[in-house]
Amino acid sequence: MCGIVGAVAERDVAAILLEGLRRLEYRGYDSAGLAVLDGEGALRRHRAVGKVAALADTQATTPLGGHTGLAHTRWATHGAPTEANAHPHVARDDVAIVHNGIIENHEAIRRDLEGRGYVFSSETDTEVVVNEIHAGLEVGDDLLAATRHAIRALDGAYALGVISRREPGRLIAARQGSPLVVGVGIGEHFIASDVAALLPVTRRFIYLEEGDVADLTRESVTIYDRDGRRVERPIKTSELTAEAAERGNFRHFMAKEIHEQPRAIAETLEGRVSERRVLAEALGPEATAVLDRAQRVQIVACGTSYHAGLVARYWFEGIAGLPCDVEVASEFRYRTHVVPEGTVFLTISQSGETADTLAALREAKRMGYMATLAICNVPESSLVRESDLVLMTRAGPEIGVASTKAFTTQLTALLLTVIAAGRHQGLDAEREQALVQALRHLPRQMEEVLALESEIETLAEDFVDKRHSLFLGRGVQYPIAMEGALKLKEISYIHAEAYPAGELKHGPLALVDSEMPVVTVAPRDDLVEKLKSNLQEVRARGGRLYVFADAATAPRDDDGYRVITLPAVDEVTAPILYTLPLQLLAYHVAVLKGTDVDQPRNLAKSVTVE
Ligand code: G6P
Repeated sequence: MCGIVGAVAERDVAAILLEGLRRLEYRGYDSAGLAVLDGEGALRRHRAVGKVAALADTQATTPLGGHTGLAHTRWATHGAPTEANAHPHVARDDVAIVHNGIIENHEAIRRDLEGRGYVFSSETDTEVVVNEIHAGLEVGDDLLAATRHAIRALDGAYALGVISRREPGRLIAARQGSPLVVGVGIGEHFIASDVAALLPVTRRFIYLEEGDVADLTRESVTIYDRDGRRVERPIKTSELTAEAAERGNFRHFMAKEIHEQPRAIAETLEGRVSERRVLAEALGPEATAVLDRAQRVQIVACGTSYHAGLVARYWFEGIAGLPCDVEVASEFRYRTHVVPEGTVFLTISQSGETADTLAALREAKRMGYMATLAICNVPESSLVRESDLVLMTRAGPEIGVASTKAFTTQLTALLLTVIAAGRHQGLDAEREQALVQALRHLPRQMEEVLALESEIETLAEDFVDKRHSLFLGRGVQYPIAMEGALKLKEISYIHAEAYPAGELKHGPLALVDSEMPVVTVAPRDDLVEKLKSNLQEVRARGGRLYVFADAATAPRDDDGYRVITLPAVDEVTAPILYTLPLQLLAYHVAVLKGTDVDQPRNLAKSVTVE
């Protein structure tokens, strides 16, 4: 989704803004732009369709410089990704604005502004805001007052950065429903959609609250809450380093993040398990008390995080004996639902900024769930700050749009939660020890699975010229098949559909022929023999099968089957381990097809609009 960077400094800010945009590229976007107040006090801008590199080329040919500036990557919502629709938007060479979010009542405001003589040059919802601010300046407001006045009229979500020729050393920022942080430097201040953009210039951040407006100059940051009262917000030091979000020797962030999983899982477990049990510190006393009283769990999430929730349902019911429902956030938030007594509301999110998940959380708080628990990867994200209880996944920054290490660390954190919840429901010490042991083996077993990469790379060649594919799983492996299909479609653009293998004969079998690769995850479990019968149904129709299986139960690798055998793994952690070959498969298919692996077309890393 759109990315914002802004700066007010003694030094020239253009390079800082461009580097910030590069670091926000992972969020997904289709055009980019930059505006600065130059030495003569004029507002100058460059905009380009496509990558930040295109904007950087324009900047290299015709450099713009100045001490106050804004930059933006746009993920098109209102209006196509054209130069005219790219941000920053400017009103009468006077005010410039960047915006992330959606202004829902923009049409009415636009009509009103047109009535007052404003001419629009884009199809965006954003342009109404910059014109409205300009109108305020014209009647004598300063930039802060004009911005506050303008946002009072807005319905929807926004993070905004505003600068004006009239007040060259000033930058106004506002947030309502979309993320925005203030970066605190020495004699310079910044804004950005997330901390990653600013790590080369500062590690000290103020996380704006909903409704906040910030007034930045070189020397000061003044923050006002939604009622216009001056407020103090703490400055927090990020533990991230600028290098944490860099690619190192890997060709893509996705490859780096796939290979980081053994270390990431070890981090998720660090200090949270002993040889025998999940430690009390893992979730903290408050969460433990809540889980002790819990009678049910409602999970809400989007995308890959939703798949983690689907896996967790098998665990909550199978291990902890707790009824568990799982729903995608965009559906949950608009549905009337009953809240059974003693239900914990559990959200799962890598970014902690996904608009639908956040909205569902806010709705849940109104509806009186027993407690809200977030499993999240980004400290200080909105989800973390607004939930009663939090369990951090500690995956480290995930940059590739297709989620990998975030997913497997979510599963690990969920299993810790399930074990903690299960104790109260009669999970005995022996079973707990077995589960904890299985978790502790994960990093090593993951290394073994990752060692299969070259075999999987060869397999990927079979997929390059295919247009469709099926992914099959049974039981807890069905959500893993869903995740495998999602990975393939996200980055290789091959249509991939997941089915519970038992449902095959109720429809998708009609699609099976020699052009339809069918991928299956088949660890050793109670359902593997039934799954093998389902595979026979595919084979009998000439379908080509790609099976990831345990050596002990794998079908023979012959004409109809390509079998990749995985090490023997514990049944409970099998979904975590069987995810890895599917990630690698999708990755190598995408590399062979030459797609943009880390920033696939039309997708965004952090979906901050509905
Ligand atoms: C986007 C991303 C996915 C992610 C989903 C949910 O669609 O491209 O990778 O799974 O959002 O994001 P969250 O940050 O809430 O986990």
